[in-house]
Amino acid sequence: MKVIIAKDYEDGARKAADIIEKIVRENPECTLGLATGSSPVGMYKELARRCREEGLDFSKVHSVNLDEYVGLEGTHDQSYRYFMNTNLFDHINIDKANTHVPNGLATDFEAAAAEYEDGIEADGGIDIQVLGIGSDGHIGFNEPATSLVSRTHVQTLMLQTRLDNARLFFGGKLDEVPTRAITMGTGTVLDSRTAILMAFGKGKAPAIAGAVEGAISHMNQASALQMHRDAKFFIDEDAASLLKNVDFYKAVYADSDLRSLEA
Ligand code: F6R
Repeated sequence: MKVIIAKDYEDGARKAADIIEKIVRENPECTLGLATGSSPVGMYKELARRCREEGLDFSKVHSVNLDEYVGLEGTHDQSYRYFMNTNLFDHINIDKANTHVPNGLATDFEAAAAEYEDGIEADGGIDIQVLGIGSDGHIGFNEPATSLVSRTHVQTLMLQTRLDNARLFFGGKLDEVPTRAITMGTGTVLDSRTAILMAFGKGKAPAIAGAVEGAISHMNQASALQMHRDAKFFIDEDAASLLKNVDFYKAVYADSDLRSLEA
């Protein structure tokens, strides 16, 4: 696990975009695992700029998203399909037929989850998985005490997660935040070839401390990334504020360019 402490949100967004750009340029047919939420929005803007101004080509790229609320149509302005279209897909030259978001309207969720896993496999697996982290340490919508080897499944959301998302996305209206989501499992995430987790702000500091320096535990799902073959955390000073080994991370990774990140 590499911890890169960025100067600020924009710096973190650019550094994370560098990793994605490298993978897309090396393998134009790669599969990107994507996340919604406030953390990756700046990176998506930067990727859209690079597509527009620097010819970064997404025409053959496939994508799979982490999760979707149960019960929301893709056209609902709070659905994750809508979020991805408006924050990324509408601004890059990806073929939307190659973009996949779990089906929150499935009638048989077990079948939908198995189909999603099969789709990932058919795409050759996930080359890079983008992640945010919940204040309770969730990745995707894998809440505390979910199995660390879980695959795509339906998850009941913790009240804290619904409160966080009500504040950020639903205009404060808790009643409108669905109670369940269909999400890739933490085991699905662990199978990705590279994982990048982005976290900014003081509110993320306890979850980041648990994920990076705590024991691996299903009570902080992101701590499972300690076992990932290539996980990189892009965080700001506030999110890093409860880490004990900040000086070490800064000395080794802070000003790293892509070459030294690979070391
Ligand atoms: C989103 C997702 C969630 C978010 C997490 C952090 O697809 O799977 O795990 O990444 O809730 O959300 P933000 O970035 O809004 O703080």
